[in-house]
Amino acid sequence: MEKKIVIAVDGYSSCGKSTMAKDLAKEIGYIYIDSGAMYRAVTLYCLQNEIIENGVVDEVRLRSAMNQIHISFQMNNESGKPDTYLNGVNVEKEIRGMEVANHVSTIAAIGFVRQAMVEKQQEMGQQKGVVMDGRDIGTVVFPNAELKIFVTASPEVRAQRRYDEMMAKGEPAIFEDVLANVKKRDLIDTTRAESPLCRAEDALELDNSHLSIAEQKAWLLVQFNRVTRE
Ligand code: DC
Repeated sequence: MEKKIVIAVDGYSSCGKSTMAKDLAKEIGYIYIDSGAMYRAVTLYCLQNEIIENGVVDEVRLRSAMNQIHISFQMNNESGKPDTYLNGVNVEKEIRGMEVANHVSTIAAIGFVRQAMVEKQQEMGQQKGVVMDGRDIGTVVFPNAELKIFVTASPEVRAQRRYDEMMAKGEPAIFEDVLANVKKRDLIDTTRAESPLCRAEDALELDNSHLSIAEQKAWLLVQFNRVTRE
């Protein structure tokens, strides 16, 4: 029998890791966990409760609010993908908007927020059989993950993908703003003091700038089969 493993998928924002990780999980019958959605949900909570105002986070209030922030995932049978719930409310749409995108890196840079999210993520992956995507999954959350993938693509390619996605959903967007947001998030994510985005030494790098979804999937399945059958 194939052994169950943890698959850590890390990389820059909007490089298609979520789609890729979600598809892979579906194909191999694993649970998909979008760790970025958790930081987005915390950000939404902060915006809703005025814990972030004019880009400034009230860390004292946020620290004491942490035990009132409950994040969970539930499969959406229509889309076939898990939706994110914040305190029992489906917030999948709200967490993907520009307002959350503009503030999430600030929230994700706060040590006590990361600590709480990492604990929850480790709990969710305890039984293995999960594909988790994020920035620190192979380095901090599951340093012993059996398969680690580090995904990259140029900022322009990533901004175009994100822009197309927003257009398809009918969300207003300007390409230059999306590109600026991608670059700003890259900078914050890679230079923050707490668990900066970096490739784990034992991660396999996948530059998907010029790969089709089908090509990526084929490559991933080769890696999965190699690890589970060795
Ligand atoms: O993957 P995403 O774009 O939904 O992530 C949203 C933000 O959360 C992004 O700025 C990076 C941060 N993040 C993180 O710091 N650690 C993770 N494991 C996942 C996301």
